This record gives sequence, C-alpha cells and structure tokens, in this order.
Amino acid sequence: MVGASRRPADRRRVYIYIYYLWWCTMPGYTWTFVDRPRRKCICPLCRLPVREAVRVSSCGHTFCDICLQEFLSAGVFKCPEDDKPLDYAQIYPDDDLTSEVMNSLIRCRYNKDGCRWVGKLHNLQSHLDQCCYDNIACPNKCPALLSRLSLEDHLEYSCPNRLVVCEFCSQQLPGDTYERTHSGQCPCEVMWCENKCGARLERRFLNNHMRNECHKRTVECSYCKRDFVQETLQTHQYQCPRYPVTCPNRCDPTKIAREDLDVHVQALCPSATVSCAFKKAGCSHKCPRFSMDKHVEENMKHHLQLMCDLSQRQQEEITQLCDALYSLSHVTDGTFIWRITNYKQKFLESVYKSVEIVSEPFYTSRYGYKMVASVFLNGNGAGEGKNLSVYIKILPGDYDNILDWPFSLPISFSLFDQCSSPDKRSNICESFTPDPTWKHFQKPLKDADKDTLGFGYPKFVSHDVLKSRDYIKDDCIVIKVKVDNNKFICP
Ligand SMILES: *[C@@H]1O[C@H](CO)[C@@H](O)[C@H](O)[C@H]1NC(C)=O
Ligand SMILES: [Zn+2]
Ligand SMILES: [Zn+2]
Ligand SMILES: [Zn+2]
Ligand SMILES: [Zn+2]
Ligand SMILES: [Zn+2]
Repeated sequence: MVGASRRPADRRRVYIYIYYLWWCTMPGYTWTFVDRPRRKCICPLCRLPVREAVRVSSCGHTFCDICLQEFLSAGVFKCPEDDKPLDYAQIYPDDDLTSEVMNSLIRCRYNKDGCRWVGKLHNLQSHLDQCCYDNIACPNKCPALLSRLSLEDHLEYSCPNRLVVCEFCSQQLPGDTYERTHSGQCPCEVMWCENKCGARLERRFLNNHMRNECHKRTVECSYCKRDFVQETLQTHQYQCPRYPVTCPNRCDPTKIAREDLDVHVQALCPSATVSCAFKKAGCSHKCPRFSMDKHVEENMKHHLQLMCDLSQRQQEEITQLCDALYSLSHVTDGTFIWRITNYKQKFLESVYKSVEIVSEPFYTSRYGYKMVASVFLNGNGAGEGKNLSVYIKILPGDYDNILDWPFSLPISFSLFDQCSSPDKRSNICESFTPDPTWKHFQKPLKDADKDTLGFGYPKFVSHDVLKSRDYIKDDCIVIKVKVDNNKFICP
C-alpha cells in the first residue's frame, strides 16, 4: 500500500526531470521523418525516434542510450516503462532498431528553407556537409553565420573581413574599411568633370581641372567683373563694355574702356579732329583738339567779324519773325482790348509833352483790315488838358489789295468800369459808322505818314469822370475797340 501510494508521485517527479532533460539534450532525433516511425522506434522517455537504441533484456523496452543513462543516473534502478527492477547487466545495444531508425528516410532540416533533400538518416551528415542551406561560419572569421548559398555573395560583397582590391588604385583593403573610407573616394577613380565639359579624369586631378583648366568653369571677366563660362569669355570680351580698346585717333598709349570710347572721341580725345567753335558763324577750320586753342587765339579778328555778320543776319530774322508773330497774334474777331498800364506816370508825361500812346497793331479778322488804336491821356486838340482822346487809324495791311475800300464797318470805343461787381459797372461807350468820303478810311498807302492822326474822339471822357468810379484801377485803364464784322465781306 505504501509503495502503491508513493508510485505516482515518484513517476511524476521522474517525468518532470526527463522533460527537463529532453529540453536540454534532445537525445532522440528531431528530424522530420518522411514516414512516421514504428511505435517501437520511439523512445518512451524523449518520445522521439531513438538514437543509439538500447534494450532492457528482462522486459524488452527500448530507449535512447542517453535517455536511459540519464534516467538511471538519478539513482532509480527501475525500467521507466514498467517499474521492474533493473541493472546494467540487463541493458544491451539494440543494433537492429538503431539501424532501422538510421535507414529511415528523413527530410533535410532546411526543408522549410527550401532544401529538397530526402535521404536515409545515416546519410544526413554527409548531406549537411554540402547542404547549401546549412549555416556555416564565415571563413574570414567575421561574426556572420551563413548558409552555403549566401556564402559566395557574402565573401564577395558583404564580409567586413574580406579583402577588396580597389579597381582603380589596386590597393587591397578589408571590406569594411573599403566601404567606409575608400569606395566613392578613391583618388584614382576616373570620373566625369562635374561641369559637364566632357573630360574624364582621376578624382585626384579633378579639383585642379575644374578650378584651372576646365573650359566650362566659371571665370570672372577681369574688366567688367561679371561671371562667364570660360569658353565664352573671349567672345564676351569682343563686346565687353569695360574691355580696353585703343582710341582710333591713337591719341595716347593708354587704352580706354569700350563704353567710354564715344565720349572720349567726341569730347576728350586731344587727337580727335574737331571743328572750330565759330563754325556756325562761318569758320570752316578743322584741326586736332589740342591745337584748337591756338587757332582761336590767332583768328580772333576774323571770328569777331564772322560773329558780327551772324548777329546782323539773326537780327533780320528776328525782325521778320516778330512781324510774323505780330500779324498772327494780333488777329482778332473784331474786338481789340487794350490795357494801358502805369496810367499815373504816363498821364504826367503827357501833361508836359503831348504824347500819343499807340497800341499794338491788330487785324479786324484773320484776313481783315490792319488797324492801330491810340490815346492822348491828357487830351488832344479840342480835348487837350480836359479830356482823354481816343483814335483809330488804318494801317497798310497784308490783305488790303483784296479787301473792300473805303473801310465802312461800324466801330465803337469803350472804356471799362473795372468795378469788382459786374452789375454795378458803367462802361463809357461811343460808336460811329465811317462815311465813305472820309479820308481816314480810304485804302492806306504803303509809305503813309505814320504820324498822321487817326479818326476818333478828342473829348472821349473828361478827366473828372475818368477819376470817378473804377475807370482807373491798379493804375491801369482798359479800352475796347470793336469793329462790327456783320457786314464784312471776307475776300
Ligand atoms: C471834356 O472836358 C470838359 C471839361 O472838363 C467837360 O466839360 C466835357 O464834358 C468833356 N467832354 C466829354 C465828352 O466828357
Ligand atoms: Zn530518447
Ligand atoms: Zn582605390
Ligand atoms: Zn571640366
Ligand atoms: Zn567683361
Ligand atoms: Zn575758326
């Protein structure tokens, strides 16, 4: 009873131990068998196909040699299967069983990795010796574990301890050093120039090439300081604005920047041929700039005479221009307004000496009669000393030959009241229509006496009235002469 009650606990302890051993040593074969081995071939201790089978002669149970030894080494001398007492003398190698297991077909342990090998267990080792999926250590003693399959690649390309011969400099280097410090940096590697000039040279010559020789390198034009591709520099310098060129007059050994040449030749070059400054006056002398001073000095009299003639010609031109301007600017639509300034002073003058103040001549229309107005501030004739007199006079005009004569258009004179509010103004007005018999309105002669008196009002306005209201304002009086063009027949 006691024995019976202890047995299961003992067995459990033993199994746990065996389980431990199984994990540690795996005495049986763990290979994948093509056919499931017979039950007899399975070691009951490790539950795997037996390795080096031994048989207990008394009970016939078979185990892996190691499994049984381990079991017995725990000090329990009983068959693990049936608990029958047992000693070493009863244990024999079971060669038949061993050979059955060794002749069983198994798959290579790298089956899952792709090895297709199937063979007898006893041939396994020789297969593994060449199985390309078996892990082997790198022969260069790098830490990598490799399958035979990847070994070649590893040795060739990735083993850090492999010896690499640089294809450019033939130097031998360990693989990792090569990759870290040499690959892509070998001074002897032949490379394309980075400027794309087409040159190929060893890396060690590249820097110098790109800096000093490459015709695609960037260089600075030493004249204009801009950057250019070296091979275009010469073309550039044919046009570079700062490129020094020789003066076409060969004035000086120093050269002049191309863009400054025009100014130089036109304004500065001592050898340039220049015209005398009195050219417009008529001197046609030309000589180099440096000797022009001498010419001017030596020809002062001549130049002065030229200038004198020029000024005379110009004076004539000015007179003509003024006439033309007058006749243009004094065309009216029949109304001529005349502002007489400095009244006070002019009046005083006319008190001492009867002065006729004459207006600018004006035309009564674009192609009309030419006239002039005049006043005597202190009066004239019957109005002398008491009244202001106004007159109108016909002058010889450009269109007289095509106009109707005698002049017969109504004429009015007005003196403006310059009061600031227009409602309160009271202008003084006189008008008349010329009688065809009056001599003043016949066609004037070209050389008519300019001093003859015109036709008008000697007693136009008394001095007293003139001083009233705003007839005089800001020392000015304003007179209007109006020719009624209603009946004018345009030529
Ligand atoms: C001319 O002056 C006199 C004297 O002052 C005056 O009596 C006469 O009315 C004036 N004539 C006109 C038209 O104003
Ligand atoms: Zn076993
Ligand atoms: Zn190299
Ligand atoms: Zn280059
Ligand atoms: Zn330049
Ligand atoms: Zn001259």
